Amino acid sequence: MIDLLICNAGQLCTIPTHDSGPQRGHALGDLGIIPNGAVAIHDGQILTVGASDDLQANYDAATVIDAQGCLVTPGLIDPHTHAIWGGNRADEFERRIAGTTYQQIMAEGGGIRATMRATREADLTTLIEAAKPRLLSMMQNGATTIEVKTGYGLETRAELNMLNAIAVLDTELPIDLVPTFLGAHAIPPEYDGRADAYVDLIVQEMIPAVATWKTDHWPGPLFCDVFCETGAFSLEQTHRIFEAALAAGFDLKIHSDEFDALGGTRLAVEMGAVSADHLVATTPEEIDLLGHSNTIAVSMPPTPFGLGHHHYTSAQAMLDAGVALAIATDCNPGTAWCESMQMVFALATRYLRLTQGQALASATVNAAFAINYGGQRGTLAPEAIGDVVIWQVDDYRQLGYRFGSNLVQQVIKRGQVIWTA
Ligand code: NIG
Ligand code: FE
Repeated sequence: MIDLLICNAGQLCTIPTHDSGPQRGHALGDLGIIPNGAVAIHDGQILTVGASDDLQANYDAATVIDAQGCLVTPGLIDPHTHAIWGGNRADEFERRIAGTTYQQIMAEGGGIRATMRATREADLTTLIEAAKPRLLSMMQNGATTIEVKTGYGLETRAELNMLNAIAVLDTELPIDLVPTFLGAHAIPPEYDGRADAYVDLIVQEMIPAVATWKTDHWPGPLFCDVFCETGAFSLEQTHRIFEAALAAGFDLKIHSDEFDALGGTRLAVEMGAVSADHLVATTPEEIDLLGHSNTIAVSMPPTPFGLGHHHYTSAQAMLDAGVALAIATDCNPGTAWCESMQMVFALATRYLRLTQGQALASATVNAAFAINYGGQRGTLAPEAIGDVVIWQVDDYRQLGYRFGSNLVQQVIKRGQVIWTA
């Protein structure tokens, strides 16, 4: 007797890895569709996939879900969010609508620093209660694994408070969170004009404190990320932080080329970063480097969209260069308060010109590689995690085409139904 059988999927998208790796370049979009398919789940893991008739004949299941001809996919993975923060920045958005730029507001001491002030003031419970509805909304929109960054504390105590909030939410909510330490998100005001002294603090105090926190609280992957950007951290500062993070056993991520190309993407590739994220202003040379590396390129179209910009990641050039592309929400209170990977599909199809199938593979099999869960999540393969979304539609090409409504019917986590529309 197995735990769960989902049968009669009009399209069962298995979304395979390629040679045990991500789907690279124009090979992206291999959905491995089984028509009238079924998936068997036991002990929280995928047991097998196949034709519905075969699996129904071969397995007795404690629970059977009839997908009634609908689309069935792996649970979506959101590999880049800043989902924990205090306060909000509606006032800044109002100013941006009127023409003030994100960088002007940042230079005036607003932006990330505004959220830092609210986050430092918030106690653990306040942070948790503020983030919970956002994360639940992400889950209801299909995400079953979500990466969440720190980076609004910018001092050791408040950064650890954010990590504790991530750990509590991971336990309390039915989804899985993957934490990233982003102490290098902005220079806090007490280090104005002394950015290198703040980098000293990150290297000498924060990274060791986070390494200890990981030993005590977190058995899974934990990343170190740097916002390498004009007005944030220089290439040299990023390099210093990365060296310390690698020495402390962290895997690397980078925010690079969101506004300016500082060489962060090259550095990330050279230092073996797991992912390089944003990549709006990336040079052709660095796109080529990415194409020859194992670093996953994570594009977040909600960010330029949220800023009202018209320039997005050059996804087609990346596919031409053989890059492994993933997509994410970047959910944050400044540039992109977006809780829906379905919204990311809508933007990625229009502005990155991904096909619906490419968008879906970027948000599943490839997104898993961006958080060191390659092959274990985002794919319906034997032994992968039993995370599944049953959709209200019968064709994957409805994803991205339709937007503004939630097309999810049911979310299944480790073989358990955790949400039904
Ligand atoms: O990914 N680029 C840096 N971090 C966020 C923005 C954070 C904020 O404005 O609060 C981003 O766009
Ligand atoms: Fe970000």
